[in-house]
Amino acid sequence: MQLLPSAITSYNHSVGFSGKMLSLKLLYNSPLATLLKGWRKANMKEDVVKPALEDPTLEDDPLRREYVESIPEAQTFRGVLLQGYLVPPTVLEGLDDFEIRDDDVFIITYPKSGTTWTEEIVSLIYQGGDVKRVEKELLVYRVHHLEVGRPFGHLRYLRKVKSPRLMATHLPLPLIPRQLRQSKCKIIYVMRNPKDTAVSYYHHHKMSTFLGNTSAAWDKFLEHFMAGHLVYGSWFDHVLSYWEFCKQHPSNVFFLSYEELKLDLPGMVVRLSEFLNRPLAPEAVDAIVRHCNFESMKTNKMVNREVLPITDLFDMTKSKFMRKGIIGDWKNYFTESQSEAFDRLCNSHMSGSDLRLVFEPEDAENLFTTFGRIIYNHPERTQEIEVATEVTEDYEGDELSAYEPRNCGPQAFFQIYLQSDPLTLYSGD
Ligand code: A3P
Repeated sequence: MQLLPSAITSYNHSVGFSGKMLSLKLLYNSPLATLLKGWRKANMKEDVVKPALEDPTLEDDPLRREYVESIPEAQTFRGVLLQGYLVPPTVLEGLDDFEIRDDDVFIITYPKSGTTWTEEIVSLIYQGGDVKRVEKELLVYRVHHLEVGRPFGHLRYLRKVKSPRLMATHLPLPLIPRQLRQSKCKIIYVMRNPKDTAVSYYHHHKMSTFLGNTSAAWDKFLEHFMAGHLVYGSWFDHVLSYWEFCKQHPSNVFFLSYEELKLDLPGMVVRLSEFLNRPLAPEAVDAIVRHCNFESMKTNKMVNREVLPITDLFDMTKSKFMRKGIIGDWKNYFTESQSEAFDRLCNSHMSGSDLRLVFEPEDAENLFTTFGRIIYNHPERTQEIEVATEVTEDYEGDELSAYEPRNCGPQAFFQIYLQSDPLTLYSGD
């Protein structure tokens, strides 16, 4: 019984946290945890987090059921499946009213899209590129995860973090704090092409205790990905709603892609620093680029998850967190027919949107060289777009319908991609 409180208080922000280590399995299987679960069940209200296995519709969907069963303590909140370990239900239920400060910075991603990479870059931008200042502190203590944290007092802890708070979340748009949806602070959304994301997430499921260390075969995993069964929900729902959100709040939301970071890290570091109003000297940009390339990050224990206060979070014998770090690894996993089926799925989901996906490394490179950004400013698409207006209303009632996928006009397009991104090479003719 003593285990729980002492394990939690042993969180120590320095590298050499000499306190006791925390074990996920022990933590969630302790008598106190069982007691709490019983109490929650007895006091269940509407619009609360629920055990995912209690969803009656699972009966008609054996494939989804199989996935849900593989995730320890899986839970659902407002229709989104979430991991049970380390995502406390009380945190999710308290997020609506979580206060956002104007100088907060949020990095938002679907899992495996380059979250850690962007976090390290942003953390360094806030240190003026001084690498020494991040060498001894784990990234998880520099960039705070909104929904993932200690079982008790996580939101209280976040409220006490000094400004400027750097934060990250994988939550889909309907689940983030109301004030964040009102775009009260700077938000960086990172997307990665969904084929590579699926491959990376597949390995992540193998290595992660909180995702059940699945031994599922790739084919099966891909079926789940395509059906939108996975923890944090459908990739398409996630990306497309944030894309619309970005178009409506162009000055506060920077939509970035993993592929762009890969193809021009120095350029994207400069863009991000300008977006965050933290311009950097060229030497600082160089230092960040050296520190944040894949080879450096792979061996950097502050970011590669080899050192963490929880001992059994990852099984690195199954996969490394910093695994390959390339564009196009999907080709080593997708069969031709899987790739075709995936393309068809993309077409059906993306047909209402002006966001286009690029899967081939060469295509990404060509677009980047020609237009300065990869996906967004393709001239063929400027014809399709109609004007997006800044959303200013109070976000009561049907606010989220504002972020259904749609095309937007050339004017909005230039506002977003050219004005807020002055380094873009494309001249607009
Ligand atoms: P792979 O599994 O394809 O290698 P996240 O941080 O969102 O979980 O994303 C993890 C993915 O980003 C992993 O992809 C990881 O290797 C990749 N990644 C992290 N840092 C990187 C870097 N500096 N350069 C390229 N890829 C990086």
